[in-house]
Amino acid sequence: MRIVVLVSGTGSNLQAVIDAVADGTLNVTIAAVGADRTGTGGVRRAAEAGIGTFEVDFRQYADRAEWNRALTRAVAAHEPDYVVSSGFMRILDQHFLDRFPDRYLNTHPALLPSFPGAHGVRDALAYGVKVTGCTVMIADAGVDTGPILAQAPVAVLPGDTEETLHERIKVEERRLLIETLAQLAASTDAGSAAGA
Ligand code: GAR
Repeated sequence: MRIVVLVSGTGSNLQAVIDAVADGTLNVTIAAVGADRTGTGGVRRAAEAGIGTFEVDFRQYADRAEWNRALTRAVAAHEPDYVVSSGFMRILDQHFLDRFPDRYLNTHPALLPSFPGAHGVRDALAYGVKVTGCTVMIADAGVDTGPILAQAPVAVLPGDTEETLHERIKVEERRLLIETLAQLAASTDAGSAAGA
C-alpha cells in the first residue's frame, strides 16, 4: 500500500509512521510527504529519512480552489492508495475528496464528535472533561467529521496543561494511526493480490 502523508507542523505522528516502516512493524510505502507551507518540521523529517517531499504553499495561490487543485495534482502524481493527514491543518475541498474517495485518513486529538477543530486538546481541557482521547477517521469536507475508524481514551490528570495532555494523547494517537494503517494495508494488499 502506498501512502502520501500531509503535514502542516512538526510531524511527530509522521515520524512514528516513518519509524514503524523502518523497523518492519508497518508494511506500507511512504511515497511522499507534502506540506501546505514551506519549512515545516514534517518535511524536514521526511527529507532526513530519504522520502520525497513537496510543498504547495497556500499563500502562493490566488484562492482556496486553485490551491486545492494544485495540491490534488501534487498528491495524485505519487499514486497513493491512501492520503494521511499528520496534523494537516487545512480543509481539503470536494475536488480533492472526489479524486481520493474514502481514501483520506485524518487523526484528531479528541474523542469526536466532541471538540473538533484546531484546538481539540485546549477545548477539552477548558470544558473540564475527565476523559478525552484521539480519533482516526476518514475525512470528508467538514471540520473533523467523517466516518470514525478507531478511537482511544486518555484520562485528564490533575494539573494537566494543554502540552502535557497533548503529549499523552499523541502517544495513543500514533499507536492508533499505525494500527489503522496496518489494517488498511492488509486489506489493500490482499485486494491487489486477488486482482493480480
Ligand atoms: C496531532 O495531535 C493531530 O491530531 C492534530 O495536530 C497534531 C499534529 O501533531 N490535528 C488536529 O488537531 C486536526 N484537527 P504532529 O505535527 O506532531 O504530528
